[in-house]
Amino acid sequence: MPEASANIGVVGLAVMGSNLARNLASREGNTVAIFNRSHAKTEALLAEHPEAGFVPTASYAEFAASLQKPRTAIIMVKAGVPTDAVIQSLVDVFEPGDIIVDGGNAYFPDTIRREKAVRETGINFVGAGISGGEEGALLGPSIMPGGSDESWVTLGPILRSIAAIAEGEPCVTHVGHDGAGHFVKMVHNGIEYADMQLIAEAYDLIRRGTGKTPAEIADIFAEWNRGELESYLIEITAEVLRQIDAETGQPLVDIIVDQAGAKGTGAWTVQTALALGVPVSGIAEATFARSLSSHPEQRAVAAGLPGPEDEFEVEDTDAFIEDVRLALFASKIVAYSQGFDEIRAGAAEYDWQIDLGAISKIWRGGCIIRAQFLNRIADAYAAEPELPALLTAPYFADALSRGQAAWRRVVIAAAQAGIPAPAFSSSLSYYDGIRAERLPAALVQGQRDFFGAHTYKRIDKEGTFHTLWSGDRTEIEAEDTH
Ligand SMILES: NC(=O)c1ccc[n+]([C@@H]2O[C@H](COP(=O)([O-])OP(=O)(O)OC[C@H]3O[C@@H](n4cnc5c(N)ncnc54)[C@H](OP(=O)(O)O)[C@@H]3O)[C@@H](O)[C@H]2O)c1
Repeated sequence: MPEASANIGVVGLAVMGSNLARNLASREGNTVAIFNRSHAKTEALLAEHPEAGFVPTASYAEFAASLQKPRTAIIMVKAGVPTDAVIQSLVDVFEPGDIIVDGGNAYFPDTIRREKAVRETGINFVGAGISGGEEGALLGPSIMPGGSDESWVTLGPILRSIAAIAEGEPCVTHVGHDGAGHFVKMVHNGIEYADMQLIAEAYDLIRRGTGKTPAEIADIFAEWNRGELESYLIEITAEVLRQIDAETGQPLVDIIVDQAGAKGTGAWTVQTALALGVPVSGIAEATFARSLSSHPEQRAVAAGLPGPEDEFEVEDTDAFIEDVRLALFASKIVAYSQGFDEIRAGAAEYDWQIDLGAISKIWRGGCIIRAQFLNRIADAYAAEPELPALLTAPYFADALSRGQAAWRRVVIAAAQAGIPAPAFSSSLSYYDGIRAERLPAALVQGQRDFFGAHTYKRIDKEGTFHTLWSGDRTEIEAEDTH
């Protein structure tokens, strides 16, 4: 058995695990033990990176023996059953007080279940969302760990050492207990879906409305990236739009099949939001837009359906582009506001103490949605930690007020031109819904009472009421059945 020389271990040495192991090894004071189910990957990593000083191990027992106590291991394997298998193998060789971290993309209810089961053995289990893909894992990801306070004492310094740095601060915080980290990572991905869809809609409107080429639109995005929209996603959009396909000489974006894939985190975000009763319409529309794009058989038969008769022609190109920019920013505010609402609702439901301002700060670097804009979210929560709706914070309310006329013009133009803009238009509807003095929900309550005696409240007195719809239509006081 090897001596206990490593302070941290990594299990699972595919692209994410090997990059994370290299990141850990490159930081002062870390010695990293490595293990992979098929030993060839361990040997390959060791051979390719002698500078890392890895401690290679060929069995879980050897892996455990190579770690100093409390043993700390980060699992980076396929989510689902493989993760359960690796957790069990580690539980078999670890001792109470040791720490198992799942850095994969687990669904947060699985993390809650795993944490509970592992805690019974006296071992700590931490579900940690890790964002930033391969490059982030190697150079500095944004890390969203859950788990116990006890495990954070050991884990905190290690994760701080490998996380991205944004404005001098490491992009990691102890998000909350058990599944809180994976919950926040899930919502991060949901927001990412919305942000990407909004950018795609902006591109589509500009292209079809002004006839500009992808390369010209790349310049517009590059320009936007110097203002309030500055973000990684806007930056890479310009790169993608500028790319020319070597084989055909056409813009690559015209050669790529227009069917967007998804790995499920957007759907989890929406399913969870539905269960929590939080309207995340921007994220939902973005998720559905990917689904719609990926049904070529339906799209082929529907292609013959009529659209508007008139050609879409923008009169003032520069004014239209500025309108789209403002509409994009306004819709983005809605998407983030909805995402933070979901985190707040999740925290209340699962009893997590989540600092929303701290979450916005750890997303400023390392992750896909990194952006300047997140500083404004941090400011909003610093000024009012219990802010009921992010979009009402002064900075955002001001941006919405500046952008709303343009936003409406863009949504009207899209509808008239027959260009789908589901995320733009649903975000505007959300904005109009949330700020409405009175909603037609009153009529819905009337309908529910009519067919199901579901009762209603009155605006002018306390109590719960039901109208005897199939009788003489008088009103009675009733039990609240909702
Ligand atoms: N790729 C990304 O950009 C990204 C970003 C964030 C998070 N993640 C998450 O990070 C995790 C790792 O991702 P990845 O792309 O590096 O690898 P992956 O393709 O998801 O998983 C491959 C790894 O899982 C191991 N594995 C599979 N089944 C196993 C089992 N039953 N027992 C033990 N080990 C098993 C493999 O070992 P063998 O070599 O023996 O097959 C290999 O090390 C995943 O949860 C992923 O969702 C990925």
